[in-house]
Amino acid sequence: MIEVETSLNNESVQEETYLTASHRVDKRQFSEKEYNKFVKLKGVRDWSTLTWKDVGKPYEVTSFAKEKKDWERVNGKSLPVHTSWEMFNRSFHEWFVKDVPAETKESRNRIVRNALKLNIKESAEALGDHLRLHLWNYVHRIQDGVWDPRGKRALFSGLDVVKPKILFLGAAEGYEAMQLSALYPGSEIVMVDYDSFCRDIRYREFPETYPFLGPNPSTGGLKTYYKGDFKTTYIVSDIRDLSFGREFDIVLSVGLLEHFPDDYKSEVIEWHRKFLKPNGYMVLTTPRAQLKSKVYYEVMADVMNHTYRELMTVEQMGLYLYENGVDILQHGYIKVHNGIIAKVR
Ligand SMILES: C[S@@+](CC[C@H](N)C(=O)[O-])C[C@H]1O[C@@H](n2cnc3c(N)ncnc32)[C@H](O)[C@@H]1O
Repeated sequence: MIEVETSLNNESVQEETYLTASHRVDKRQFSEKEYNKFVKLKGVRDWSTLTWKDVGKPYEVTSFAKEKKDWERVNGKSLPVHTSWEMFNRSFHEWFVKDVPAETKESRNRIVRNALKLNIKESAEALGDHLRLHLWNYVHRIQDGVWDPRGKRALFSGLDVVKPKILFLGAAEGYEAMQLSALYPGSEIVMVDYDSFCRDIRYREFPETYPFLGPNPSTGGLKTYYKGDFKTTYIVSDIRDLSFGREFDIVLSVGLLEHFPDDYKSEVIEWHRKFLKPNGYMVLTTPRAQLKSKVYYEVMADVMNHTYRELMTVEQMGLYLYENGVDILQHGYIKVHNGIIAKVR
């Protein structure tokens, strides 16, 4: 496989992977060997034998965004959950649309300017911005840890579905439903998020030219799909207010379960179960409890931590599902998330 780092914003390339100013484009297929690298199939053989004593409880992230802390100080109460998602989505979106090399250069100049003037506070702030830009550049733009198209393709492949109806709970910009839809052509996507910014900005501004690889049913080969190729309905609603029946082949969530303390986890799992056809698939991912991720959420606290958040192992994630009447068909992890494919028992 060739990896070519071409000039920024190079749209005319045939290379399999290259960088734009804000993200990586990656059209590399994964081989069998790579599949095992992206989705490490880990070995819980019998979930009924696993206990919380064996696996421990998730790690709770306790560094919060300044915006949340300021709101709570001014208003004298905890930030309402819906408002915290509104803050998170606006803040996170800003990072996806950054010209990272240009902003890194600018923040370097700011450090030098402030240091020369002996502006201690401004220098420290500029250093913090610089560190966050470097981390984001590495995690998202270089390593592609957030979107992780090869990992997600590996994780989502092999489902026994034809032209599935896909429900994406807490859809944000909708990335993973589009990846699933590319893998299962002819599918129908329903995205749901109760923050209208997700539909109107995050999804709407998701790059039209971003390639999603999948099979081409008419040739038996591969095809590149784009956002405009998918049959998508985006609903702005609280998941609790949805009135669908058991009509979906796949119910998907990405980074949802870990935002609810234990008392609410059964309810969140029920959200996945209640709209599934008999024999349908639940597909869930959550951020991994690994040192790298703990550091990431610490450094990026101002950008990301407006809400309750846990980091968990795939065993902890699986146990929450298993205890709530769900059978785990496949479990493992991709770059920065755990992944589970499951069915109602
Ligand atoms: C952490 S985000 C998912 C991560 C996502 N991949 C991203 O890039 O932001 C979770 C999403 O779920 C939405 N959400 C949380 N609770 C919800 C609810 N009860 N109903 C609808 N959407 C909800 C939030 O608005 C947020 O956009």
